[in-house]
Amino acid sequence: MAREEKPRKVILVGDGAVGSTFAFSMVQQGIAEELGIIDIAKEHVEGDAIDLADATPWTSPKNIYAADYPDCKDADLVVITAGAPQKPGETRLDLVNKNLKILSSIVEPVVESGFEGIFLVVANPVDILTHATWRMSGFPKDRVIGSGTSLDTGRLQKVIGKMENVDPSSVNAYMLGEHGDTEFPAWSYNNVAGVKVADWVKAHNMPESKLEDIHQEVKDMAYDIINKKGATFYGIGTASAMIAKAILNDEHRVLPLSVPMDGEYGLHDLHIGTPAVVGRKGLEQVIEMPLSDKEQELMTASADQLKKVMDKAFK
Ligand code: LAC
Repeated sequence: MAREEKPRKVILVGDGAVGSTFAFSMVQQGIAEELGIIDIAKEHVEGDAIDLADATPWTSPKNIYAADYPDCKDADLVVITAGAPQKPGETRLDLVNKNLKILSSIVEPVVESGFEGIFLVVANPVDILTHATWRMSGFPKDRVIGSGTSLDTGRLQKVIGKMENVDPSSVNAYMLGEHGDTEFPAWSYNNVAGVKVADWVKAHNMPESKLEDIHQEVKDMAYDIINKKGATFYGIGTASAMIAKAILNDEHRVLPLSVPMDGEYGLHDLHIGTPAVVGRKGLEQVIEMPLSDKEQELMTASADQLKKVMDKAFK
């Protein structure tokens, strides 16, 4: 494998359940050569760094350590998972005020360090926190990306794959919009080898409500997990490591992420989930999917919901 001259360096901010799962996933997959971890629980981070490094003899060589904000200076990627997680009964949007406060205490010192890399925002509500990171940092739009509907899209691929008895990676499907309650599946596109899921459902004499049931199941999956075990982390930890890999390895990969709207879907001044191309320079392209009228309505409604919460929170 051709190596970059400089080791790929990631700083993770937030060593809770999501952050440490992200870190473990990075180690398991051999993504990046250097991983610094920042958290207010300093001693916990030090322990985590040693524990993660203990996994490297069987995975990949990696420099893992408890970091501080000045370490962001020459990082390629800063990943933000820090924030209050959802409690049972809470929506992601309910976290907005708490997590905006935490976010500003992070973005400021990262920028002050002289950081010139890319922000990957994972904490919730991710679309709003991504937009806020862009605004607070003053960075160009291509250097601030949110995990968006990547996890939700994976969940959708999983559910469709199970129904059609194919591997999720063979399911071409997207969840779009807010990473939250107003997200929706792009049924006019979602397919397996060109056979639309909507047509497959009809051909198998399933009730018309099947698509809506899948939508609900995917939308409610985080709530289901939180009710049962208090938090979600394996899915999001792995999805965000996959996004980090696409950026660091310059994959030019298309992923459903939280990206800035500049007229796509008739939207402006917010970040929301849509397929986008990412690589070493960050966000390379925002892809506006052709939507049905119904899907366009759902996208508009999803954006309206985010705007409503943002207008209040940013006041
Ligand atoms: C979830 C959290 C990450 O959907 O929002 O599992």
